[in-house]
Amino acid sequence: MTATTHGSPAIGDFDGIDLDMLISQGFRPVPVSGVRTLTPEVLGIDLSPAEASAGSAPGSHLEVAVPLPNGLAIRHYSLLAGPADSLHVAVLRERHGRGGSAWLHENIASCTSLLVRGPRDTFGYEGSGPAYFVAGGIGITPLTAMIATAVAAGRDWHLLYVGRRQESMAFADSLVDEYGPERVTIHITEAAGRPDVVSAAEEWASLRDEPTTVYTCGPVPLMRALEIGFEHRPGISVVSEDFDEDSEQTAPARSAPRAGGTTSASQTGNDTTASDATEVKAEGTDDDFVVELGDGSEIDVPAGCTIIDALNKAGVRTLSSCQKGTCGTCETVILDGQADHRDSVLSAEEHAAQETMMICVSRACGKRISLDL
Ligand code: FES
Repeated sequence: MTATTHGSPAIGDFDGIDLDMLISQGFRPVPVSGVRTLTPEVLGIDLSPAEASAGSAPGSHLEVAVPLPNGLAIRHYSLLAGPADSLHVAVLRERHGRGGSAWLHENIASCTSLLVRGPRDTFGYEGSGPAYFVAGGIGITPLTAMIATAVAAGRDWHLLYVGRRQESMAFADSLVDEYGPERVTIHITEAAGRPDVVSAAEEWASLRDEPTTVYTCGPVPLMRALEIGFEHRPGISVVSEDFDEDSEQTAPARSAPRAGGTTSASQTGNDTTASDATEVKAEGTDDDFVVELGDGSEIDVPAGCTIIDALNKAGVRTLSSCQKGTCGTCETVILDGQADHRDSVLSAEEHAAQETMMICVSRACGKRISLDL
């Protein structure tokens, strides 16, 4: 069956088979209700879904399907704070991205709708105790929703927003205007150099009586500095969602709080994807096995080959984005058998439940697994 969707170049440009697959896997056309230039390199896109998105956790993201010239691409964009009856994302035009953000910047003006799936939360915001937010560049996007939630809940919080130049930092002026400099610190690296984010967070937390959670999203070095700095620091935990340097902006991958203080989730967003590849489990054997599809056909997966690659070679189309087990796009239902999970998207509980798996990195336990494909 071919899905019928009208009125959008973004949809009309998809290959018919890709479009069928996207619709069958939960993507839906959502009208574009507005496009704004937030900075010379960041576009704000407003979407108006037919159904309200009330209840999506702060830090959640949308998956957006983009018809690149070389084929279908899925990108992840964090939701900004805003009314529950609409969805707002900010897209940084990545200079060295894979094309998704450039496509949106160049084509969104002629799109009446985008194909999206979600929202989905892989960041892990929790609402209690003092919160210190650290954003690097476009990493501000998921934090805007968390800050709005923290404000509504009366939570004690502070934002350290780091960027090269203030004019390139989306929401910098509006955040300072709305919450004041006592809540929002803007750090311009072009003028002041790299900040000592660990000392800044530690100084703020030291003035609180309760344990502090540091929520951070941005470039990998910024995330890692905080994770390492507080790894063995009682009273301060780190929850992070970073950008994949290979991908384009920010979309998410789950960070789970780590013992002793740091939780690391990764995300992709603006052409970003979830966490970096080093976060993915490398343990487990890498033997050959067989994947049984829903129609009963079987695909051999040799040692050293991923399930996705084996499926693609066999002509079975699948959705994927990061190919690193960090974004969640390739999540597939397990019908029978058990997975050797190697992703960083699902929680330990979800791994144990054996209901779904990320087929870009995870493998089968044993010689056979049956998947809903
Ligand atoms: S493609 Fe991102 S988790 Fe598999």
